[in-house]
Amino acid sequence: MTDNPQSSAGPRHIAIVMDGNGRWASQRGRPRTAGHHAGAKSVRAVVEHAVELNVEVLTLFAFSSENWQRPPTEVQVLMDLFLRTIRRELAELRKNGVRLKFIGNRDNLSGNLRSSMAQAEELTAGNSRLELVVAVDYGGRWDIFNAARRLALDCAEGRLDVQQLTEADYASRLSLASHPAPDLFIRTGSEKRVSNFLLWDLAYSELYFTDVLWPDFDAACLQAAVEWYAGRNRRFGRVHASG
Ligand code: IPE
Ligand code: IPE
Ligand code: MG
Repeated sequence: MTDNPQSSAGPRHIAIVMDGNGRWASQRGRPRTAGHHAGAKSVRAVVEHAVELNVEVLTLFAFSSENWQRPPTEVQVLMDLFLRTIRRELAELRKNGVRLKFIGNRDNLSGNLRSSMAQAEELTAGNSRLELVVAVDYGGRWDIFNAARRLALDCAEGRLDVQQLTEADYASRLSLASHPAPDLFIRTGSEKRVSNFLLWDLAYSELYFTDVLWPDFDAACLQAAVEWYAGRNRRFGRVHASG
C-alpha cells in the first residue's frame, strides 16, 4: 500500500460508504429495500464517472460484517440484489475495461453468489482501466485480524522470523495490500463515521461527508467530492505537502 502525496493530480483511489438507502425509501413512504434497488443505479453512474476521471481504484462498501444483524428479509434482498447486479452489469463492465475484485469474508455467502463473484473476477482479470473493489461481508477489524493471523501462522510455521518482522510484512497481508491507499473517502447519508470500513488503509485519506443519500448520488456529486479533494493540502505529518 502506498500513499499518494499529490491531491492536485486527482485521487488514484476513491473509497465510498454508500449509505442512506433506507432513509431515501422511507422519505418516499416505500420499504427500505426499494432504497437498495435505487442505490444500485447510483453504482453504475459513479463507476462510469470514475472511469472518465481516470481513477485507478474505486472501492465500494456494499455490506458490512455488522449488516448481518439486519432483518433476514432485508439481508436476503441485498444478497439477491448483489447477485443480479453482478450478472446484469458484467458485460458493461467488461466493455468499459473495468476489473472487478471482491473483498470480505465469502464463507457465509450463498454458493451462487460466491461463484458469480469468482466468475466476474476471472472474466475481468485482464482489464486495467479501473479496478472496482466491492466490499461484501467486509469489516476493517476482520481484515486486520486476518492479516495478523496469517502473519502469526507464517511465524509459527517458520516462514518468517518474528524478530525480523516489519510493518510491510503485516500490511502485505491485508485485503488491499497491492493497491494504493484510498486518497479520498466519501460517505453519503449524513453520518460522520467509518463504520468498520478500511481501518488500516484510511490512515491518511481525505474524509468527505455529504448529506446526499446514496440513491441520489450521481456523477455531479462525485465530481463535487473530487473538486473538494483537489483543494486539500496533504501533509502526511510534514510541514508542507511537498516535503
Ligand atoms: C446503505 O444504506 C446500504 C447498506 C448498509 C447495505 P442503509 O440501508 O444503511 O440506509 P440507511 O442508513 O438506513 O438510510
Ligand atoms: C455502513 O453503513 C455499511 C455500508 C454502507 C455497507 P451502515 O448503515 O451499516 O452503518 P451504521 O450502522 O450507520 O454505522
Ligand atoms: Mg445506514
